Amino acid sequence: MSIGLSIRKRRKSLNISLQTLAYQVEADSGNLSRIERGVQGVTEVMLRKICVALNCTPAYLYNQYEYGQTISTNIELIQSGNSSNPLKAQEQLQAYNVKSNAASLTSATTVKDFVHWFRSATPYIHAFGGRTFVIAFGGEVVDDKQFIALSHDLNLLASLEVRLVLVHGARPQIEQRLKRAKLTPKFVNGLRVTDDDAMEAVKEANGVIRVEIEALLSMGLINSPMAGSDIRIASGNFVTAKPMGVRDGVDLHHTGEVRKVDAVGIQKRLDDGELVMLSPLGYSPTGEAFNLSLEDVAVSAAIALDADKLIFLMDSAGVTNLRGELLREMTAEKASKLLNHVNNNTAGIITEDERYYLPAAIRACEHGVARTHLISRHVDGAIIQELFTHDGIGTMITELSLETMRQANISDVGSILKLIEPLENEGYLVRRGRERIEMEINHFYVMEHNNRIIGCGALYPFVAEKQAEFACLAIDTAYRGGGRGDRLFHYCEEQALELGFTTLFCLTTRTEHWFLERGFTEINVASLPTEKQDMYNYQRQSKVFSKVL
Ligand SMILES: CC(C)(COP(=O)(O)OP(=O)(O)OC[C@H]1O[C@@H](n2cnc3c(N)ncnc32)[C@H](O)[C@@H]1OP(=O)(O)O)[C@@H](O)C(=O)NCCC(=O)NCCS
Repeated sequence: MSIGLSIRKRRKSLNISLQTLAYQVEADSGNLSRIERGVQGVTEVMLRKICVALNCTPAYLYNQYEYGQTISTNIELIQSGNSSNPLKAQEQLQAYNVKSNAASLTSATTVKDFVHWFRSATPYIHAFGGRTFVIAFGGEVVDDKQFIALSHDLNLLASLEVRLVLVHGARPQIEQRLKRAKLTPKFVNGLRVTDDDAMEAVKEANGVIRVEIEALLSMGLINSPMAGSDIRIASGNFVTAKPMGVRDGVDLHHTGEVRKVDAVGIQKRLDDGELVMLSPLGYSPTGEAFNLSLEDVAVSAAIALDADKLIFLMDSAGVTNLRGELLREMTAEKASKLLNHVNNNTAGIITEDERYYLPAAIRACEHGVARTHLISRHVDGAIIQELFTHDGIGTMITELSLETMRQANISDVGSILKLIEPLENEGYLVRRGRERIEMEINHFYVMEHNNRIIGCGALYPFVAEKQAEFACLAIDTAYRGGGRGDRLFHYCEEQALELGFTTLFCLTTRTEHWFLERGFTEINVASLPTEKQDMYNYQRQSKVFSKVL
C-alpha cells in the first residue's frame, strides 16, 4: 500500500469526503486525489495537516505503508532536518512519539529490523549480480493487478544487475475472450484444443497482456519504487514451436510445444541490459503461430539459457507435506516420488498448480537448472523474501540435496567459531580459541546447507593406537532434530575408517545418551590412549565412550 492509499483508507474509515478533507487541509481536491492515488508526492507540511485532520500520526500512516517505503521515508525524515523543513526530523519523530508511542516504537523496531535484514541480504546481493533468473507467472497475476507489486521487485532485481527473463501465461484472458465470443473451450487430457477461433483469442489475449506488462514496467514515478527505473523490454520470436498433432484421435490444431529457444538471441538482449519477455506463443519455420504452455516455455528457456534460477509464482504457498506443513526445499528426486505417490493414489493430494509446476521443476533440475522456486503470487514481495532471506518463503526444488559434508578448510574457521562459541559458553563443548581451531582445522569436518556451515565435528588422531577422538560435534540450533547430527556422525565415522582407525572414542558431559544410541559404550579413562589420559581434565569429569568401527 502507498502512503496515499493509507491516507485514503484512514479518510474513508472516518467517513470524511475528499472535498471535506481538502477544505480542512487547505488543499485543492484534485491534488489531494492525486496524492491518494500515489500519482503525486505529499510534502511534509501537507502530511502534518492531513494527520491533524485525520486524527492520526504520520507514523501511523507510514506503518500502513509498504515496508521498504516506510523505511526510506523515515530515513529521509531523519536526513531532511535542516532543509526547507523548519522542524528537525529527529524532533518530528519525537513529536510523533508523544502522539503515538506505540506506533513510533513499531517504526523504530522496523528501522532496526530493516538494517538487520538489509545487512543479512548482502551475501545474496553479491551472489545475484550477473545471474540469470527466469520468472514465470500465470495471466492471473496481471488480471488480479498483482503485476504492479511484482514490477517493483523486478525493478529491484534489475538494479542489482540480475539478468531477467519473464514468462507470462494467458489462461484467464483466453477464457474470457472465448466466453465473450460464445466459444466453448475444448480440452483433451488437460491440453487445450486450439482451433482457428481459439487461436484468435490466444493471440488477442497475449497481445493485451504484453502491452499491460510493458506499460507497468515503464513506470518511473518519483514517489514509487519504480523511481529512476529504466527497464527496456525485449520480446519477439525467440521461441520456435512445433504442433502437438493428434492426441487420442483429436487434432489439437494450433496447440504446440517448444522446439527450440533462441538462447543466443536472448543472451544478446540480456547483455545489453534488457529484460526479455516471453509469451506462451511460438512460431514454426512454416510461418505458423502456436499456443504453448507457460511451463513449457519457462522450463525450455531456463534450460537453454542455463539459468541460475527458475521461479514460478502460483496460487499456493509452495509444496506441503502430508501434515500440510510447507516444505522449504526438496530434491527433484523427492518431488518425483511425491508425484508418483499422488498419481498412484498411494499418498496425499496436491494442488492444481503443483500438478503443473512440479513436473516442470523436475524437468528443469534434470536438465541442469540448479534451483526452481515455487512461491505464492498472493504475497506482496514474495520474490524478495524467497531470494533474500535464508529460509525463503516457498519451496525450492534442487537437483541435489542442499546439504553437503566435507573436510573443513582455513576459510571455515570463522563459521565454526560462530557455531561452537555459544555451546562452549553453555559448557557443552570444551573451549577452543581461534588459534587452536586454525591449527587443527585439518581435523574438522563441516556440514554445509545452501553454502552456509550448519554443523561441524572433528576427528583427532591417535595413530599408534589406531584410535580417533570424535569431538566438537555441533549442529546449528535451527537445524537440530532432523537427523543431521546423525548424518554428520556417520560421515565422520566413514572418514575415520578410510583413515585406518579401528576405534572411535568421545568425551561428553551432557550428550551421553546421544552417543549410547549410536553404538558407543561407556569406558573408563584408563582405557583411553595414554596421551589422551594425560590430557584428561578431572575437573570437567567428562564421561568417556568408545565405539569399535
Ligand atoms: C547433539 C547434536 C549434535 C544432535 O544434533 P541433531 O541434528 O539434533 O541430531 P539428530 O537429529 O541426529 O538427533 C536428534 C535426537 O538426538 C536427541 N538429542 C539431542 N541432544 C541430546 C542430548 N544431549 N542427549 C541425548 N539425546 C539428545 C534428540 O532428542 C533427538 O532425539 P529424538 O529423535 O528421539 O527426538 C546437537 O543437539 C548439538 O549440537 N548439541 C549441542 C552440542 C553437543 O552436545 N555436542 C556433543 C558434544 S560431545
